[in-house]
Amino acid sequence: MSPRAFVLGIESSCDETGCAVVADGRDVISNVVAGQIDLHARYGGVVPEIASRAHLEAINTAIDTALGQAGAAPGDIAAVAVGNSPGLIGSLLVGLMAAKTLAWVWNVPLVGVNHVYAHAYSPALNDEPVEYPACALICSGGHTSLYRCGGPTELELLGATIDDAAGEAFDKVAKILNLGFPGGPAIDEAARGGDPKAVSFPRSLLRGQSLDFSFSGLKTAVLYHVNGVPGRRPRPRRSPPASSAAGRGIESFSPQEIADVAASFQAAVVDTLIIKLRRAAKAVGAHTLVLGGGVAANSALRRAAAELADRLRCRLRLPALEFCADNAAMIAGLGYYYLRAGQTAALDLEAVATVRR
Ligand code: KG4
Ligand code: ZN
Repeated sequence: MSPRAFVLGIESSCDETGCAVVADGRDVISNVVAGQIDLHARYGGVVPEIASRAHLEAINTAIDTALGQAGAAPGDIAAVAVGNSPGLIGSLLVGLMAAKTLAWVWNVPLVGVNHVYAHAYSPALNDEPVEYPACALICSGGHTSLYRCGGPTELELLGATIDDAAGEAFDKVAKILNLGFPGGPAIDEAARGGDPKAVSFPRSLLRGQSLDFSFSGLKTAVLYHVNGVPGRRPRPRRSPPASSAAGRGIESFSPQEIADVAASFQAAVVDTLIIKLRRAAKAVGAHTLVLGGGVAANSALRRAAAELADRLRCRLRLPALEFCADNAAMIAGLGYYYLRAGQTAALDLEAVATVRR
């Protein structure tokens, strides 16, 4: 039996410094994630300069810890895989430089991995391989895209957001609702006690067969619901219902009203994502649905995706919660397939901030 191939993965595209060791593309031996939420929370979003500096401080420890937890020596590593696109350029460069250095010093191949493709691969970690062709919906803080997947490395872009990403909308709406950062988990939690039909928020770009997304109008609708439309006075309170604080600023909202707005906003995002996923799955004849990215941790989205898969008689592959947000295990896992196909990179591999494909 041939020895198992250990790939060391490195992830630094946004605000998580990740390093992982994965065997044969699927067995996660170690998975270290050093987050930076505390550094960015006071700004209500990721500050690129702060993120790259924090990566620099965390990366060596993350690598040592991942190797240590795996009980792996450098001689055990078959290749170093790194997420080199897309992402914040300063952040990507930190992981890329570390990966190049290790590949050079250890004399092993370097593999460049697209971060979004890695999210689409994440359901296979510590689990069965994904059955292809699949239709993948990747939604995170930086991306909202639909892909036809013919295999782990064969992705064809079907549609993407034309403005905000779904996770970005969660983060911005959480800020409007004073729920803190990151907004996704906070809204998910608040929405549990709310009525998703309380406020009728728009579902954008549903006409025709478009597979693109737009969330900026929804974000503005929440802002106007909370603060009122600029230049228009809030409607006088009527009783009943005396409780409507709409248009009067977040301080006027009761905890129940905030929960209702959170649930209604979340329902609008989930409806939009699911309608487009259904359209895309039908268009490409996929029998497997895949979710990936930080927003794939959302409880309402996971439930709605399970219902959709039932209706379409498709398999559904959800990443384990620990592999939804950014992590290096997905980079190492997918990197193994490039290694196997001989698709390795030279040491002049570049970091690419924006990729649309
Ligand atoms: O994949 P990820 O860690 O980073 C990017 O590649 O962008 O995704 C982070 C995003 C954030 O916007 C965060 O608010 C969102 O994922 N998120 C969620 C949930 N958990 C994280 N959004 C909705 N519901 C959640 N439970
Ligand atoms: Zn991501």
